[in-house]
Amino acid sequence: MPAIKTPIPSGVNAVTSFDEREVNAAVELLRNPSRLFRHRGGEPTNADLFEKRACELTGAKHALMVNSGTSALTCVLAGLDVGPGDDVIVPAYTYIATAACVMNVGAIPILAEIDDSLGMDPADFERKITPYTKAVIVTHMQGVPSHMGALREIARKHGIKVVEDCCQAIGARYNGVYCGVESDAFAWSLNYFKTITCGEGGVAFLSDERGFAKAVCQSDPANLMWKSGLIDENTKPFSRGGYRISELSAAIARVQLEKLEGIVAKTRALKKRLLSGLNAPKNYTLQCVGDPEGDAGISFAVIGKSPEQTKALTVALAEEGLRVGSAYNEGFPDRHIYAYWDSLMEYGAPTAAGYPWKDPAYKGEVKYSRDMCPKTLDILNRCLRVGIHFGMSETNMDEIAQAFNAADARV
Ligand SMILES: Cc1ncc(COP(=O)(O)O)c(C=O)c1O
Repeated sequence: MPAIKTPIPSGVNAVTSFDEREVNAAVELLRNPSRLFRHRGGEPTNADLFEKRACELTGAKHALMVNSGTSALTCVLAGLDVGPGDDVIVPAYTYIATAACVMNVGAIPILAEIDDSLGMDPADFERKITPYTKAVIVTHMQGVPSHMGALREIARKHGIKVVEDCCQAIGARYNGVYCGVESDAFAWSLNYFKTITCGEGGVAFLSDERGFAKAVCQSDPANLMWKSGLIDENTKPFSRGGYRISELSAAIARVQLEKLEGIVAKTRALKKRLLSGLNAPKNYTLQCVGDPEGDAGISFAVIGKSPEQTKALTVALAEEGLRVGSAYNEGFPDRHIYAYWDSLMEYGAPTAAGYPWKDPAYKGEVKYSRDMCPKTLDILNRCLRVGIHFGMSETNMDEIAQAFNAADARV
């Protein structure tokens, strides 16, 4: 009898938490369409209220809602003065947007290996620093905080700004503090797949007021028309972007933000339940989670001792009724793995001038190849993961643990 007896509900974390409140928020706004624009004047709009509440909840200083996580990361980099001639270190395992936002501001992404936290390897981060490194973007993949203590210390020693890509880690904490708040800046994505969602959306958070003003300039060409008083005499306004959030999205996101703590409390408890049901593993180790209390609990990942054992474990898990996603299948283009970022590997540029690589401002010599981060590929080749979401139950967790125990005993 396979260990999985109860159907595991499919679904994506945030959407499984939707109810009448999201519907009512959208309908209410549609009944009052004169309020559909985010810079409406008069009463604060949904976007204004979301930004205020997100700062209260997280402890961040400044928040700007935009139309995607990619836009939010781009605004953050502009806010930190990153531009042509600079390089920015990003992990080799993250969504491709983490590298794309660097190119959006004309800078060069440099890839660093991950370790068994599935986040950036601090030692490789330090090795990859060049004379041109202005910032590092640390991604907390699947809700698990990276080794922020070590990464921040290295960045501080070298005078490098720290950005946390929290697009997959909304609600995660590090040492009790919301991920990102103790760094120079961070970003959330509110796209369909994230912990809270409004379909598409993003939030840029910055600790410094001047940086925030620049992020606002990056977000909207007419920024000064909408947000007067932000730019001081030391900051020259500029026009970029076109990243304005829709009020309809912001209205839904406000409801979701109020649910965030409850969603994460549930996923965290589910993951703890799963972990408590596991026997001591033979053929795998658990993903290293530096701060288990801060883990958002949306993913359970294990790392097999060899690729062969991992394959055998996958087969045995399937026999137990559990299909697990393996992070790196050769030939399966998971865009979270750098080797599949064709556009970057091939130095793709919008024009023949080949910017940002051929920008005369850039004095470095970055080279990309599909095997340039072998440690990352080796770890991902041995990594199996199960997504956890709000719609799952304790029974699901118990049975998943039993499936791992049975499969591990058989391999
Ligand atoms: C780690 C990471 N960074 C950035 C992004 C970009 O967010 P968006 O899709 O909202 O632009 C995502 C979204 O999938 C992500 O997972």
